[in-house]
Amino acid sequence: MRNLKIALMAMATAAVLFVPANAETTLKDAYKDAFAIGAAMNAAEITGRDTKSDAIVLSQFSSISPENDLKWERVHPTPERYDFAVPDQYVAFGQKHGLYTVGHVLVWHSQTPKWVFENKDGAPISKDDLLARLKEHIFTVAGRYKGKIKAWDVINEVVGDDGKMRQSPWYKIGGEELFVKAFQWAHEADPAAELTYNDYNIEYPNKRAEALALVKRLKAAGAPITTVGIQAHYTLAEPDLKFLDEAITEFAKLGVKVALTELDIDVLPRPGAGATADVSLRLAEDPKYNPYVKGLPEEVQAKLTARYAEVFAIALKHKDVVNRITLWGVTDADTWHNGWPIPNRTAYSLLFDRAGNPKPAVDAIIKAAKP
Ligand code: G3I
Repeated sequence: MRNLKIALMAMATAAVLFVPANAETTLKDAYKDAFAIGAAMNAAEITGRDTKSDAIVLSQFSSISPENDLKWERVHPTPERYDFAVPDQYVAFGQKHGLYTVGHVLVWHSQTPKWVFENKDGAPISKDDLLARLKEHIFTVAGRYKGKIKAWDVINEVVGDDGKMRQSPWYKIGGEELFVKAFQWAHEADPAAELTYNDYNIEYPNKRAEALALVKRLKAAGAPITTVGIQAHYTLAEPDLKFLDEAITEFAKLGVKVALTELDIDVLPRPGAGATADVSLRLAEDPKYNPYVKGLPEEVQAKLTARYAEVFAIALKHKDVVNRITLWGVTDADTWHNGWPIPNRTAYSLLFDRAGNPKPAVDAIIKAAKP
């Protein structure tokens, strides 16, 4: 009897040893010696209504970002009112589960209510008044989560698609000094937080040149910027990933860390538009631009898999400076690409399918961790 027990135990041990490679590896474990792997969470995930996605976050990811709930229009909708109901749950989720918790976003031209830039008569406010509003906002929001939110996107998308500084209300009223002060106030509010300039398409040479110059100017003016966030909203074809490789090298030379902050890869047609994250872009609905309603063809899945693996391989090559890759969502059911730039489509941009199953890209990314 005792021998039988020993034999069974030996068989069980052998079975464990013969588990195929990767079957028990997760994204976060595969990359634990390189960088954090994050996912953006929506309100249903933050508040626990989407238990399936929460389980994926907890098993696969080591970092979280709030997809929408810390944007100005949500957290500070009117001058006198802050709404911390969902943000508090977001930060508590990160604390409870030991996740590297990111704050998104303090200064952005989009999703910021008009009142921020106007007086009661609707006329633009002065630079001093705008600085005062921003300071109050930063101390209230970043101060509330001091020591808990580990990295803040301080300024977002401040370089335009023309490669020049974006003419946003922030910039037009406050100039570059406002950006410097935003970094300084965020640093005062939480001296330990990583502070990021975050933008899309700064891999491309024209936008990259201005982004590099901006980081230099901000640093020279005393902004405590620690990190450049490359959003990484990609398509299957764009950008040429050699631009990502070059951009990481060049930003690192400025003495900042680099994070891929909003990675996703759109497989759907985008007539007349390349890789961009311009939220104002809107294209008309047409069934021919929604080709994969019934499922993703194998050859497209294979392209998506290869492209994801390539992005991770490039980041891994730069693991000394890259400190995080965050996916902009958990499952395809919730990718913003279902509604942008064309509404009501079936997109396949993320690593987990609509049922929450890992796509082949997950395995490929895990394999890329051990070249
Ligand atoms: O929650 C409301 C819902 O109550 C309402 O009925 C519905 C009607 O339109 O809108 C819902 O809000 C939408 C929200 O996403 C949540 O789904 C907003 O309209 C929509 O504008 C918003 O889009 C977000 C977009 O930023 C603008 O804030 C996307 O989810 C989000 O993925 C996207 O994220 C941005 C980053 O913050 C910055 N970089 C680019 C990136 C992609 O655009």
